Amino acid sequence: MTVKYESQKIAQNFFTFAVLLFLVQVAVGIIAALQFIWPDFFILNFNIIRSLHINALVVWLLVGLMGATYYVVPEESETELWSIPLARFQFWATVVTVTLVVLGYIWMGINPQANSTSLFGTGILNEGREYIEAPRWADILIALSVIIFLINNFMTVMKTKKWTGIQGTLLAGLTFLALMYIPGMFYTKSMVKDQFWWWWVVHLWVEGAWEVIAGALLAFMLMKTLNAQRHVVERWMYVEVALVLFTGILGTGHHYYWIGTPPYWLWIGGIFSSLEPIPLLVMVWDAFRTTREYRTVTNKVGLFYAVAHAIFNFVGAGLWGVIHTLPQVNKWTHGTQITTAHGHLAFYGAYVLLVLSMIYVTLPVIRGVREFSGSRAYQAFWWMTISMIFIVLTITGAGMVQTYMERLMGLDYVAVKTNYNLWFWIFRAIFGVGFLIGVAIFVIDYFRLGKEPLKIGTPEAVKITG
Ligand code: HEM
Ligand code: HEM
Ligand SMILES: [Fe+2]
Repeated sequence: MTVKYESQKIAQNFFTFAVLLFLVQVAVGIIAALQFIWPDFFILNFNIIRSLHINALVVWLLVGLMGATYYVVPEESETELWSIPLARFQFWATVVTVTLVVLGYIWMGINPQANSTSLFGTGILNEGREYIEAPRWADILIALSVIIFLINNFMTVMKTKKWTGIQGTLLAGLTFLALMYIPGMFYTKSMVKDQFWWWWVVHLWVEGAWEVIAGALLAFMLMKTLNAQRHVVERWMYVEVALVLFTGILGTGHHYYWIGTPPYWLWIGGIFSSLEPIPLLVMVWDAFRTTREYRTVTNKVGLFYAVAHAIFNFVGAGLWGVIHTLPQVNKWTHGTQITTAHGHLAFYGAYVLLVLSMIYVTLPVIRGVREFSGSRAYQAFWWMTISMIFIVLTITGAGMVQTYMERLMGLDYVAVKTNYNLWFWIFRAIFGVGFLIGVAIFVIDYFRLGKEPLKIGTPEAVKITG
């Protein structure tokens, strides 16, 4: 089986860049973990390492979602992409911008004075808003790249005007995502207002736009891996997306408890964000129900990853989110390792597994593979997932100790971090290496998939049909 439209192959460029950044992100995460034990480890300080770790994460997920979109939109619109050269240009422009930003962070790490103020009033190498630290000139280039990307995809749909629910929802989610980048560029001298707008980007991305995209891609994957009927998967997709927006938009309030915004946010944030796990649970149910109803699986690995994504989206974002979302709890846990534990499991379950499942659903088709060995895909999954579960349990433990000793007993932050939590940091670093092994297996699989002969009778052989 091969792609229906040649231009869908452009997705592979984006996937390759994403996969390489994934490797960098995790390697850098291990350096960050070691710096909790030995603060002077490595030439770059923790602040730079941490920005590299989380920025690489956000960027590779976005690049992966772009690749997925370039695959889905021609397929759904039943036509070639509007312009392949434009897509190629957009790809290389993204690679160059991201590389420059990374070099800027490293330069700033070696020479802190280099981050002088630019014309926009913000740092020339780093703007200092967690997750979106890229400087203003890079923001503008990124915005241009995203505009080109959206135009190319919208024009593709306009060629045949075949609007499907899946591709419409996907593009609506991406447009929402692009619009939400703007509040991250407002410049104000008030820290309260700065934080207020900054959460629009961070929260409304991961608990709004990105979940809408996840809903659309989940429907697409269930359709492709199970031959499920379109009207069935689309019906549930609408329910999921509507509930995500209903709970997630006002759920932003769970970040407005203690930053200086009015007290009514305690109620709004508490109530709406407590409801956020519901749509994520509907997605899990949807994945299982569809799998049970349509028993003919056309790509076992793809379906496996897609179902795992639905489950861990619910566990990481839903459960590990709801435990600290009420103001009565968050008052104690705010900004501790409990938050970090949730951040890891939520991003891993919701978006890392989403991009990886889209890769396993589309890559065999892009490479024209009829059959491949799923063995490495499963190994990578278990190494990554078991390690991630242990990282999360470890730092949830660290967070409980931190909350108790620091917030209830009034011990000093550094005393708790260096003495009482040391073993948790050691375990986190060890499990981090386990996670890196999983990523390495995945990356090898990514480059080899479909390129080596399959031994007859391989038990993990995955046939691509349908
Ligand atoms: C896939 C979706 C989600 C992702 C990727 C995600 C990720 C994150 C991250 C990275 C942070 C830390 C932000 C920081 O640096 O301060 C955070 C904070 C938070 N998240 Fe989520 N989250 C998701 C969904 C949810 C859901 C559904 C809930 C609630 C049910 C939730 C509740 C919270 C709360 C209360 C905080 C603030 C913690 C604090 O006060 O320190 N999250 N989230
Ligand atoms: C796909 C896998 C990973 C994802 C999605 C991820 C995500 C994140 C996120 C969202 C944050 C910011 C959390 C916050 O501020 O609350 C973070 C910080 C961090 N990550 Fe990861 N990470 C991953 C893998 C790793 C690995 C393998 C390690 C190494 C053990 C690691 C070590 C760290 C450390 C030490 C921090 C800083 C924590 C802090 O400031 O308290 N990460 N990561
Ligand atoms: Fe949030």
